[in-house]
Amino acid sequence: MAEAQQSDILIIGSGAAGLTAALNLASRFKVTVLAKGRLDEGSTAWAQGGIAAVLEPGDSFENHIEDTMIAGAGLNDRATVEMVVERAPAAIARLEELGVPFNHDGDTLHLTREGGHSHRRIVHVDDATGWAVQEALLRAAAANPNITLVPDMVVIDLATSRHEARYSGAGNVRGVYAFSRKTNRVELFTARATILATGGAGRTYLFSTAPRGATGDGIAMAWRAGCRISNMEFMQFHPTCLYNLEVKNFLITEAVRGEGGQLKIPGTGHRFMPEFDPREELAPRDIVARAIDHEIKRLGLDYVHLDISHMGPDFVKQHFPTIYARLLDLDIDMTRDPIPVVPAQHYTCGGIVIDRDGRTDLPGLYAAGECTQSGLHGANRLASNSLLECFVFGEAAANHIAACWDDLPPPPAIRPWDESRVADSDEEVVIKQNWTEIRRFMWNYVGIVRSTKRLERAAHRIQMLRGEVADYYGHFRVTPDLIELRNLLESADLIVRSALHRKESRGLHYTIDYPDTALVAVDTVLVP
Ligand code: FAD
Ligand code: SIN
Repeated sequence: MAEAQQSDILIIGSGAAGLTAALNLASRFKVTVLAKGRLDEGSTAWAQGGIAAVLEPGDSFENHIEDTMIAGAGLNDRATVEMVVERAPAAIARLEELGVPFNHDGDTLHLTREGGHSHRRIVHVDDATGWAVQEALLRAAAANPNITLVPDMVVIDLATSRHEARYSGAGNVRGVYAFSRKTNRVELFTARATILATGGAGRTYLFSTAPRGATGDGIAMAWRAGCRISNMEFMQFHPTCLYNLEVKNFLITEAVRGEGGQLKIPGTGHRFMPEFDPREELAPRDIVARAIDHEIKRLGLDYVHLDISHMGPDFVKQHFPTIYARLLDLDIDMTRDPIPVVPAQHYTCGGIVIDRDGRTDLPGLYAAGECTQSGLHGANRLASNSLLECFVFGEAAANHIAACWDDLPPPPAIRPWDESRVADSDEEVVIKQNWTEIRRFMWNYVGIVRSTKRLERAAHRIQMLRGEVADYYGHFRVTPDLIELRNLLESADLIVRSALHRKESRGLHYTIDYPDTALVAVDTVLVP
């Protein structure tokens, strides 16, 4: 293995959280950003609806805080919610400075509406906000001489004290080992501080709106290195993912309901949400997803309909140009026809425990974005609060590193990756089989409505697969698929253990064995 590649700060992930941190650090420090595939392959580029911020006359921080806390079912950390909500307008202003072309109504930003928000609050770029944000952040990072962007580098694990050439016992994180898709070799990157911005673990489920790389890598790495992981039972299911046998993960943004879209039973056209919640189609996501799941199971349907055709063709095409064009390719004209939709996994509310400076439990290790549990989302994330979390915590982690720079020791010599006892795999089929098996039992046993029996079945399967995956990892050279499979299994385990731990129903965690909500809201915290 070649010499360690050194930088001041190492960031794993080139989405909204990672690039925000990089841009905030680059005036003083040399920053390296690693991504496991293309630089724009994370969830950020896929975001449709937009970013929540208090900008409407008559709206207030207090309203946004209350809406976030109501969606979070009492489990949010109020001080964190206040911090994020209050920093939102400044975050939007900075994105505009970077050239994000948000939609305007004359001189003011156009605000759309989403479920759980009491006001119009979502700034957006048509229905493809994430793509515009990702492009602007990447453009700024690529132009900065202090930022090195490294795609195709799949991080395997954090380098900690255990990997030091002379063990210091300091407990610091010193960098990472990563598999290069270009050289097929494991490389060592060291730094005084490392930030995990690796996104969520959505792909633990068979149906998910998240991109293929959402395998919970950062969460699993942090757990293996000794960080606490919290609230992993709260996996958010988006109510309206397109139902199509070929296109499995195309989201139909919540803004379609925000702008008047109605959920109906196919055939009868009966609008069912008023029977489930007074907020109808704009109730928080957990409620809408459970209502759809209920109707699908009760009536034996494959999907329900989302209908916005009554708003007229011009309105629909103007507000949802990307979705309109994509659906037209699939012979669905949303200006005339209802859209077949089903709930699908969408967002990972839990993750690595961080404080309001983005610090994890390990010295030298920070985290930001969807891989974290910052206290913002509680038991259910309010729509369009997650990109916001990335901007606020990316910046907070950067500020803390800059303020404490002198206390972060330079990394000592780290042992190279040891491949002396492994061979090339001759049975790749094991990886594919296990990958599919995990996603299927997570969907069937750990989905929208849970029971202790089903969770125990999932736990049992995870136990069986653990031995198989560990055996494979111990004997064969790592590949990107093996790295992801190991993390997918770790993430599934953390989700199931957390779900079994919670003996109540709250927010996104609904179990038929404990249907009531406990009087006191307590985080689930798993300690390695
Ligand atoms: P990501 O953008 O997911 O980036 C993760 C990065 O980590 C990638 O660069 C990836 O390559 C890298 N990485 C991961 N593992 C490794 C590894 N092992 N080695 C090296 N690199 C690694 N939120 C909103 O607020 N508003 C919305 O409108 C919205 N719409 C959404 C629509 C869709 C379809 C989806 C899936 C999500 C949406 N979300 C939305 C959620 C939001 O997009 C994400 O929570 C947010 O973008 C996460 O950003 P991030 O920076 O934490 O991670
Ligand atoms: C959407 O556009 O519906 C997604 C918004 C979000 O996940 O916050």
